[in-house]
Amino acid sequence: MVGKLASQLNKVGQKGFDKPLIAPSLLSADFIDLKNELVRVKDGDLIHLDIMDGSFVPNISFGFPVVAAVSKNTDLPLDVHLMIDRPERYIYEFAKLKAQAITVHFEAGGHLHRTLVAIREAGALAGLALNPGTSFESVVALLPYVDLVLVMSVDPGFGGQSFIPEVLPKIRMLDKYRTTQSKRFFISVDGGINEKNAGVVVQAGADILVAGSAVFGTSDASLAMLKLKEAGKSRLL
Ligand code: DX5
Ligand code: ZN
Repeated sequence: MVGKLASQLNKVGQKGFDKPLIAPSLLSADFIDLKNELVRVKDGDLIHLDIMDGSFVPNISFGFPVVAAVSKNTDLPLDVHLMIDRPERYIYEFAKLKAQAITVHFEAGGHLHRTLVAIREAGALAGLALNPGTSFESVVALLPYVDLVLVMSVDPGFGGQSFIPEVLPKIRMLDKYRTTQSKRFFISVDGGINEKNAGVVVQAGADILVAGSAVFGTSDASLAMLKLKEAGKSRLL
């Protein structure tokens, strides 16, 4: 497995890992001006792409043509978040579009172990997303097969919702698990992330902050990402 994200994963938990990584979520971008929007977030660490099918979540976002266009117009690693039923059908297509991480939802079901293994075999980091109501205990058997856990801090489907603080203990449990079990995976947190909650989220164990409206909703996206990074570090020792 090659790719920038994979090499950063090797540093997780070590001194040289400068967390948090910031993942601007394209869902909040201006879609008529995507090329420029990608330039605005070029200082980000990865670009988060929310794929919604109108069935798993009550919203439809965008699909392959947009992901292909983004892939050709950014140097940032693509972080694909699949909010779709039966995501195993599309792993290969997203890997071909150079997704460096492909994340499927625990709640989408199916044979999740097989799906996660298939993502790694396709050459991407295997991500597992957990809705706010999904417990740490329900996913623990899958953790040896993941490279990234995406903790949803809103119910998936829409940008611009409020952060649900009750997910913080789950982030702490995931962080404790990887330390005690010597496992290596990113903890990414998605939904309602802003300067006010970034510190506590990173302190709880997050490595990656996904942010849509807090980045694209401002006039200076670079500054917004820098502020999120600084806020994220603020509670670290
Ligand atoms: C929600 C998506 C998020 C969304 C975040 O279902 O998974 O990635 O874009 O947007 P904000 O940061 O505005 O909550
Ligand atoms: Zn997302």
